[in-house]
Amino acid sequence: MRSLIDILELSVEELESLIAKAEDIIANPEKYAHKCDGKKLATLFFEPSTRTRLSFEAAMYELGGNVLGFSEAQSSSAAKGESVADTAKTVSCYADIIAMRHPKEGAPLVASMNASVPIINAGDGGHNHPTQTLADLLTIHREKGRLNNLTVGLCGDLKFGRTVHSLIAALSRYTGIKFVLISPLELKLPDYVKESLKKNGIEFFETADLEAVMPELDILYMTRVQRERFFNEEDYLRLKDSYILTSEKLVHAKKDLSILHPLPRVNEISVAIDNDPRACYFKQVLNGKFMRMALILMLLEVE
Ligand code: NCD
Repeated sequence: MRSLIDILELSVEELESLIAKAEDIIANPEKYAHKCDGKKLATLFFEPSTRTRLSFEAAMYELGGNVLGFSEAQSSSAAKGESVADTAKTVSCYADIIAMRHPKEGAPLVASMNASVPIINAGDGGHNHPTQTLADLLTIHREKGRLNNLTVGLCGDLKFGRTVHSLIAALSRYTGIKFVLISPLELKLPDYVKESLKKNGIEFFETADLEAVMPELDILYMTRVQRERFFNEEDYLRLKDSYILTSEKLVHAKKDLSILHPLPRVNEISVAIDNDPRACYFKQVLNGKFMRMALILMLLEVE
């Protein structure tokens, strides 16, 4: 039995086969409509979510399965003081697979050590978010036809943005990847992530100036400043609007730039850009559902 806690638990070959599976699901949805008949997915969300939880649930329904769960810690026994380990053991009695989001880094890992069914990390604190990365990879693959030889700009809250950490880890295994890390000083990529880039000999460049690097980028991955991870509101208010992508800022961008954002968007991308053919963030939402379908099939070992 296998869980997915960190994106690096999937080999490059497995990522390729998940992408191929998602493409087949897109092309032939009817083939998959009963693959998970009689199976149950539990979504245990101790933190707010729209996309991730609903996309897991939609994914399971589209595979013919059923869904149970909770969407806030307050409505679960965590509010009474139950441990993550006990919750995982309990829900293993009801579900065949569990997707868990938690504000504490490592909580899904603890769950996986105690559950008797696969656990999927649906975001743990400021740490990791492997299934968002699956959505990001399918989107990049569909837009660019490749996952290598790309200059990838990551912009915004690189410190607390868990989607950024997982995406960097995943792309670091492809050749010809260059990261441009665009953030205010206070929200720079954590040292532990930078160390792994250095160790793997991956090219990266840190800057605070989005417009200066815009012409180089093949991918621009915008992110929200992660308010809930700040220690004080003043710092958040000072930093929240550090980057707002507008049409003017795209004047010197490549014609085939792909703009991604894990969403939710607060102010980072002007809504005027939604109609720009380079905007991919709503396609990314849809791609996330297909990749989660492919992942559920893989972890449940459904042929
Ligand atoms: C992201 C998350 O939860 O980390 N959202 C998502 O799952 N698509 C990004 C964010 O909250 O900013």
